[in-house]
This record gives sequence, structure tokens and C-alpha cells, in this order.
Amino acid sequence: MIFRQLFEPVSATYSYLLASRPGGEALIIDPVLEKVERYLALMRELDLRLVKAVDTHLHADHVTGLGALRDHTRCITVMGEQSKVDVVSMRVGEGDTIDIEGISLDVLYTPGHTDDSYSYLLGDRVFTGDTLLIRGTGRCDFQNGDARAQYDSLFNKLLKLPDQTLVYPAHDYKGDTVSTIAEERAHNPRLQVKSVDEYVDLMANLKLSNPKMMDVAVPANMHQGLAQASIAARGWAFSPEAAKALLGKPEAVLIDLREKRERERHGELPGAVHLSYHDLPEAVARGGALHLLDAVPGKLLVFYCAFGERSAMAVQAAQDAGFAGARHIEGGIAAWKAAGGAMA
Ligand SMILES: [Fe+2]
Repeated sequence: MIFRQLFEPVSATYSYLLASRPGGEALIIDPVLEKVERYLALMRELDLRLVKAVDTHLHADHVTGLGALRDHTRCITVMGEQSKVDVVSMRVGEGDTIDIEGISLDVLYTPGHTDDSYSYLLGDRVFTGDTLLIRGTGRCDFQNGDARAQYDSLFNKLLKLPDQTLVYPAHDYKGDTVSTIAEERAHNPRLQVKSVDEYVDLMANLKLSNPKMMDVAVPANMHQGLAQASIAARGWAFSPEAAKALLGKPEAVLIDLREKRERERHGELPGAVHLSYHDLPEAVARGGALHLLDAVPGKLLVFYCAFGERSAMAVQAAQDAGFAGARHIEGGIAAWKAAGGAMA
């Protein structure tokens, strides 16, 4: 496995680049905007193709690199279902997995630092975001933080992991890089409490000032969505309302770009065919699956996904490859449902 712990010194943020092999797919956790060029260069050097960029939560101390990485690489952006971000490509919840070639992260919902805080477990290591830090825990005093919920996330979820599980946090201000569950249980001063009330008390009396970047970072991080308007301006988008008229029309092929887990959890449109966004590059290439669908003159290839982001990128890629009939449903299945569209 390729595993890189990358550091951004201004906000003392750790980002993690993961891949199962040189030449393969990569995933990055908690990228920082200022370091995007560095990540891109490293991935070029290691011959990696970024397919997913994931944040553990909506950060208050730095601007995320999610949007910039998506714009550079057409990767999928991933956050939790509670995150107050305008648009990400994919949202996950407790029990989901985040998959790339050769790597599968188990998604653990660990609220408390914020109400959208997640940890991601990869075998012998866990990426704890700001829920569990090395000899510390993330503050709970803004962004719907909740010390009681954090106690539960710590004691009833993270500390239940095997003792030797490596702990990789989103930050460290002292230069520590990694710990273990056993080490934190024994030596983390925040975890030496006897009850949830004692923890709540401890967290209520930290008297911390707000992060320097907070007024910039939070609004910026809430607006990460791809500008779908530019796709609509080119006439390549259907509003959910307009898309209703496409159902049952033989000239329109509805193409669901989401993963199996998302289809099972959120349903799909009637008559849709499945083409994971992951497989899009091969599908648009010469001889790929889209060429077969596109063979009939006047055919419309209508992509949709969860929130319209993958489908907007797919329209662009398909148009670039010469599919003049490529369209998408703006806002994805979330907007479709909100408009009262029929489900299969
Ligand atoms: Fe945070």
C-alpha cells in the first residue's frame, strides 16, 4: 500500500494519501487548499490517479482542497450526510464504505467535535479527524459540537477498536504523527474521566479562542459545489421538472452514475441503466459502452447522480469525447425527489 502523511504547517493539518499500488487509484483524506499543487505533483510522481477526496468534517481552521482537487482531476468529493456544504459528489453515513481500487474505508459516524464528524477505518489504522487527537480531543464549542456526543463517539466507538489500531488524527500541534488506541486510552488526559458528565465539564472549561481562519474557512468550506450553471448555460442540463418528460421516451437513456450502495440506499429512476462514474473514462473511450448507447441518431444520454456533480463532470467528459447528445439532470436524484419525480 502507498500511504503518505502530508503536513500543512499553518493549520497543523495532516492529510493522508492512500493507494493500493503505483499506477493505481488514489484517495486523499482532509486535503488543504494551499497544498493542492503539492498533492497533484506527488500523485504525478507516484503515477496515481485521484478518484476520491474525502473530508472528515467541515473544517473551521483551513480551507479544504476538495473543490480544487475535483476541478483538477474530476475526482469525486465525499463528506458525511450531515455536512452543511452546498454540494459534494457523494455523502456517506455510519456503516457505509468508501471504496477505491484495492482500498475500502469503513465509515464511522463520530459526532461531537462537530455534528458532521466522521472517522474512517482502514484495517489496522483509523483516521480520526478532530474527534480523537494525540493526547487530546477536538473542541466541541462551535459548529453544533456536543461534548456528550463526543464522549459517546470516543468511549463507545473509537476506544472499542483493537488496542493496536494506529490513530492518525487530522491535526497535531506538537509534532506527533501517530498513536494507538491503547496509548490514547492510557495517556490521553481527556480520556481519564470517570463519567460523561465529567467529560462535559472538562470540555466546557477549555476557554479556547476561535481559530484564526474560522471566519474565512467555514463559509468557504460550505461552498465547495461544482458550478453546475456553466453546464446548464451550454444547454446540457435538464431541470428535474423538465426531466420528468423524458421518462419512457425511447430516445432518452437515463444513466445512473452512482455506486451500488447509493442506489440501494436512495433508490433510482425508472428504467435507468447503471454506469458507475468510476467506469466513465473507459465508457467514453473508443469502443466503450457509451458508444453503443449513442449509436442511434437523436439519442440523448441523460446522466444523473446524487447531487448533480458527477453527472455535470460526466456531461463535460462525454461532450469532450464527441457525444453531442450528453445531458444531465441538474441537482441529481436529491433534486429529482424534491420535485416529486417518480422512483423505480
Ligand atoms: Fe475541526
